[in-house]
Amino acid sequence: KISACIFDLDGVVVDTAKYHYIAWRSLANELGFDFTKEDNERLKGVSRMTSLDILLEIGNVELDEKTKLQLAEKKNKNYLEYILKMTPDEILPGVKDFFKVLKSEGIKIALGSASKNAMTILKQLQLTDYFDAIVDGTHVSKAKPDPEVFLKGAELLGFSPAECIVFEDAEAGVEAALNGKMRCVGIGSPEVLGKANLVVPGFVGLTMAQLDF
Ligand code: G6P
Ligand code: MG
Repeated sequence: KISACIFDLDGVVVDTAKYHYIAWRSLANELGFDFTKEDNERLKGVSRMTSLDILLEIGNVELDEKTKLQLAEKKNKNYLEYILKMTPDEILPGVKDFFKVLKSEGIKIALGSASKNAMTILKQLQLTDYFDAIVDGTHVSKAKPDPEVFLKGAELLGFSPAECIVFEDAEAGVEAALNGKMRCVGIGSPEVLGKANLVVPGFVGLTMAQLDF
Protein backbone atom coordinates (compact mmCIF):
# COMPACT_ATOMS: atom_id res chain seq x y z
CA LYS A 1 0.00 0.00 0.00
CA ILE A 2 1.21 3.51 -0.81
CA SER A 3 0.48 6.32 1.61
CA ALA A 4 3.06 8.82 0.46
CA CYS A 5 5.26 9.76 -2.49
CA ILE A 6 8.56 11.51 -1.81
CA PHE A 7 10.07 13.47 -4.70
CA ASP A 8 13.59 14.53 -5.40
CA LEU A 9 13.53 18.02 -6.95
CA ASP A 10 16.41 18.61 -9.36
CA GLY A 11 16.04 16.31 -12.36
CA VAL A 12 12.67 14.93 -11.24
CA VAL A 13 10.35 17.93 -10.96
CA VAL A 14 12.47 20.41 -12.92
CA ASP A 15 15.64 20.42 -14.98
CA THR A 16 17.97 22.67 -13.00
CA ALA A 17 21.08 20.78 -14.15
CA LYS A 18 21.44 23.18 -17.09
CA TYR A 19 21.64 26.17 -14.74
CA HIS A 20 24.02 24.40 -12.37
CA TYR A 21 26.15 23.70 -15.44
CA ILE A 22 26.30 27.33 -16.58
CA ALA A 23 27.22 28.51 -13.09
CA TRP A 24 29.83 25.79 -12.38
CA ARG A 25 31.38 26.21 -15.82
CA SER A 26 31.73 29.94 -15.39
CA LEU A 27 33.52 29.33 -12.07
CA ALA A 28 35.82 26.75 -13.70
CA ASN A 29 36.65 29.19 -16.51
CA GLU A 30 37.53 31.86 -13.97
CA LEU A 31 39.88 29.37 -12.35
CA GLY A 32 41.47 28.74 -15.74
CA PHE A 33 40.05 25.42 -16.93
CA ASP A 34 37.03 24.13 -18.80
CA PHE A 35 34.11 22.11 -17.46
CA THR A 36 32.11 19.95 -19.86
CA LYS A 37 28.53 18.67 -19.98
CA GLU A 38 29.87 15.20 -19.19
CA ASP A 39 31.68 16.58 -16.14
CA ASN A 40 28.37 18.14 -15.06
CA GLU A 41 26.70 14.70 -15.05
CA ARG A 42 28.89 13.80 -12.09
CA LEU A 43 27.27 16.56 -10.00
CA LYS A 44 23.70 15.23 -10.18
CA GLY A 45 22.33 14.61 -6.70
CA VAL A 46 25.63 15.68 -5.15
CA SER A 47 25.75 18.44 -2.50
CA ARG A 48 27.07 21.91 -3.31
CA MET A 49 30.40 21.52 -1.50
CA THR A 50 31.01 18.03 -2.88
CA SER A 51 30.20 19.37 -6.36
CA LEU A 52 32.90 22.02 -5.87
CA ASP A 53 35.39 19.37 -4.75
CA ILE A 54 34.69 17.35 -7.92
CA LEU A 55 35.08 20.49 -10.06
CA LEU A 56 38.40 21.40 -8.42
CA GLU A 57 39.62 17.84 -8.87
CA ILE A 58 38.82 18.07 -12.61
CA GLY A 59 40.79 21.34 -12.84
CA ASN A 60 43.57 19.98 -10.67
CA VAL A 61 43.21 22.95 -8.33
CA GLU A 62 43.81 22.83 -4.59
CA LEU A 63 42.35 25.51 -2.33
CA ASP A 64 41.86 26.12 1.39
CA GLU A 65 38.44 25.72 3.06
CA LYS A 66 37.79 29.45 3.33
CA THR A 67 38.38 30.06 -0.38
CA LYS A 68 36.21 27.05 -1.22
CA LEU A 69 33.30 28.44 0.79
CA GLN A 70 33.66 31.78 -0.99
CA LEU A 71 33.66 30.10 -4.40
CA ALA A 72 30.61 27.98 -3.56
CA GLU A 73 28.84 31.16 -2.48
CA LYS A 74 29.83 32.89 -5.71
CA LYS A 75 28.60 29.97 -7.82
CA ASN A 76 25.30 29.97 -5.96
CA LYS A 77 24.76 33.70 -6.52
CA ASN A 78 25.23 33.14 -10.24
CA TYR A 79 22.96 30.05 -10.18
CA LEU A 80 20.24 31.99 -8.34
CA GLU A 81 20.10 34.57 -11.11
CA TYR A 82 18.85 31.82 -13.42
CA ILE A 83 16.61 30.19 -10.81
CA LEU A 84 14.86 33.47 -10.09
CA LYS A 85 13.88 33.71 -13.75
CA MET A 86 12.22 30.26 -13.78
CA THR A 87 8.48 30.00 -14.35
CA PRO A 88 5.89 27.18 -13.94
CA ASP A 89 6.48 26.43 -17.66
CA GLU A 90 9.68 24.69 -16.59
CA ILE A 91 7.94 22.02 -14.51
CA LEU A 92 8.84 18.77 -16.28
CA PRO A 93 6.10 17.18 -18.42
CA GLY A 94 3.47 15.18 -16.56
CA VAL A 95 4.62 16.15 -13.06
CA LYS A 96 1.71 18.41 -12.17
CA ASP A 97 -0.89 15.98 -13.52
CA PHE A 98 0.72 13.20 -11.50
CA PHE A 99 0.58 15.36 -8.34
CA LYS A 100 -3.14 15.91 -9.01
CA VAL A 101 -3.74 12.17 -9.34
CA LEU A 102 -1.94 11.58 -6.03
CA LYS A 103 -4.03 14.27 -4.33
CA SER A 104 -7.25 12.76 -5.66
CA GLU A 105 -6.17 9.34 -4.32
CA GLY A 106 -5.43 10.85 -0.89
CA ILE A 107 -1.72 10.09 -1.20
CA LYS A 108 0.58 12.53 0.61
CA ILE A 109 3.38 14.34 -1.20
CA ALA A 110 6.78 15.19 0.25
CA LEU A 111 9.98 16.71 -1.06
CA GLY A 112 13.34 15.06 -0.37
CA SER A 113 16.03 17.24 -1.94
CA ALA A 114 19.71 17.92 -1.29
CA SER A 115 19.30 21.49 -2.52
CA LYS A 116 19.48 24.47 -0.20
CA ASN A 117 17.59 26.41 -2.89
CA ALA A 118 14.58 24.05 -2.91
CA MET A 119 12.11 26.51 -1.35
CA THR A 120 13.07 29.20 -3.87
CA ILE A 121 12.68 26.77 -6.78
CA LEU A 122 9.27 25.48 -5.62
CA LYS A 123 8.10 29.06 -5.20
CA GLN A 124 9.21 29.98 -8.73
CA LEU A 125 7.36 26.93 -10.07
CA GLN A 126 4.31 27.73 -7.91
CA LEU A 127 4.35 24.18 -6.55
CA THR A 128 4.89 24.81 -2.82
CA ASP A 129 1.25 24.18 -1.92
CA TYR A 130 1.25 20.66 -3.37
CA PHE A 131 3.70 19.48 -0.71
CA ASP A 132 2.53 18.13 2.63
CA ALA A 133 6.12 18.03 3.88
CA ILE A 134 9.36 19.57 2.63
CA VAL A 135 12.82 18.32 3.52
CA ASP A 136 15.74 20.01 1.75
CA GLY A 137 19.47 20.63 2.00
CA THR A 138 18.96 23.01 4.93
CA HIS A 139 17.42 20.23 7.08
CA VAL A 140 19.86 17.36 6.66
CA SER A 141 23.43 16.66 7.63
CA LYS A 142 24.05 13.48 5.67
CA ALA A 143 24.09 13.41 1.86
CA LYS A 144 22.42 10.77 -0.31
CA PRO A 145 23.03 7.76 -0.49
CA ASP A 146 22.36 8.23 3.22
CA PRO A 147 18.56 7.91 3.60
CA GLU A 148 18.25 10.80 6.11
CA VAL A 149 16.43 13.20 3.74
CA PHE A 150 13.76 10.61 2.82
CA LEU A 151 13.37 9.21 6.35
CA LYS A 152 12.76 12.75 7.64
CA GLY A 153 10.10 13.23 4.96
CA ALA A 154 8.32 10.01 5.93
CA GLU A 155 8.53 10.94 9.60
CA LEU A 156 7.07 14.40 9.01
CA LEU A 157 4.13 12.79 7.20
CA GLY A 158 3.77 10.15 9.90
CA PHE A 159 4.34 7.10 7.70
CA SER A 160 6.74 4.19 7.85
CA PRO A 161 9.33 3.78 5.05
CA ALA A 162 7.37 0.77 3.72
CA GLU A 163 4.39 3.04 3.03
CA CYS A 164 6.45 5.45 0.91
CA ILE A 165 7.67 5.52 -2.69
CA VAL A 166 10.60 7.73 -3.66
CA PHE A 167 11.08 9.29 -7.13
CA GLU A 168 14.71 9.89 -8.05
CA ASP A 169 16.87 10.69 -11.08
CA ALA A 170 20.31 10.11 -9.50
CA GLU A 171 21.97 6.83 -8.63
CA ALA A 172 22.89 8.07 -5.13
CA GLY A 173 19.24 9.01 -4.62
CA VAL A 174 17.97 5.56 -5.62
CA GLU A 175 20.46 4.06 -3.18
CA ALA A 176 19.31 6.47 -0.46
CA ALA A 177 15.71 5.32 -0.90
CA LEU A 178 16.64 1.64 -0.82
CA ASN A 179 18.94 2.23 2.17
CA GLY A 180 15.91 3.71 3.92
CA LYS A 181 13.87 0.57 3.10
CA MET A 182 11.65 2.52 0.74
CA ARG A 183 10.53 1.56 -2.73
CA CYS A 184 11.93 3.67 -5.54
CA VAL A 185 10.95 4.77 -9.04
CA GLY A 186 13.90 5.88 -11.16
CA ILE A 187 13.25 8.77 -13.52
CA GLY A 188 15.70 8.41 -16.39
CA SER A 189 17.66 5.59 -17.92
CA PRO A 190 17.73 1.97 -16.65
CA GLU A 191 21.52 1.84 -17.18
CA VAL A 192 22.05 4.39 -14.42
CA LEU A 193 19.04 3.66 -12.20
CA GLY A 194 18.84 -0.12 -12.54
CA LYS A 195 18.59 -0.69 -8.80
CA ALA A 196 15.20 1.05 -8.61
CA ASN A 197 12.00 -1.06 -8.45
CA LEU A 198 10.80 0.60 -11.65
CA VAL A 199 12.51 2.94 -14.12
CA VAL A 200 10.49 5.25 -16.37
CA PRO A 201 11.68 8.04 -18.69
CA GLY A 202 9.33 10.58 -17.09
CA PHE A 203 5.89 11.20 -15.60
CA VAL A 204 3.88 11.40 -18.81
CA GLY A 205 1.49 8.45 -18.86
CA LEU A 206 2.62 7.07 -15.50
CA THR A 207 -0.32 5.38 -13.78
CA MET A 208 -1.03 4.30 -10.21
CA ALA A 209 -1.29 0.70 -11.44
CA GLN A 210 2.42 0.81 -12.42
CA LEU A 211 3.29 1.64 -8.83
CA ASP A 212 1.93 -1.65 -7.59
CA PHE A 213 5.26 -3.39 -6.98
C1 G6P B 1 20.61 18.56 -6.12
C2 G6P B 1 21.29 18.64 -7.48
C3 G6P B 1 22.79 18.80 -7.32
C4 G6P B 1 23.09 20.00 -6.42
C5 G6P B 1 22.44 19.80 -5.06
C6 G6P B 1 22.68 20.99 -4.12
O1 G6P B 1 20.90 17.34 -5.54
O2 G6P B 1 21.03 17.48 -8.23
O3 G6P B 1 23.37 18.98 -8.59
O4 G6P B 1 24.49 20.16 -6.26
O5 G6P B 1 21.04 19.62 -5.25
O6 G6P B 1 22.03 22.11 -4.66
P1 G6P B 1 22.12 23.57 -4.08
O7 G6P B 1 20.94 24.25 -4.71
O8 G6P B 1 22.00 23.49 -2.59
O9 G6P B 1 23.43 24.15 -4.49
MG1 MG C 1 18.00 14.82 -8.67
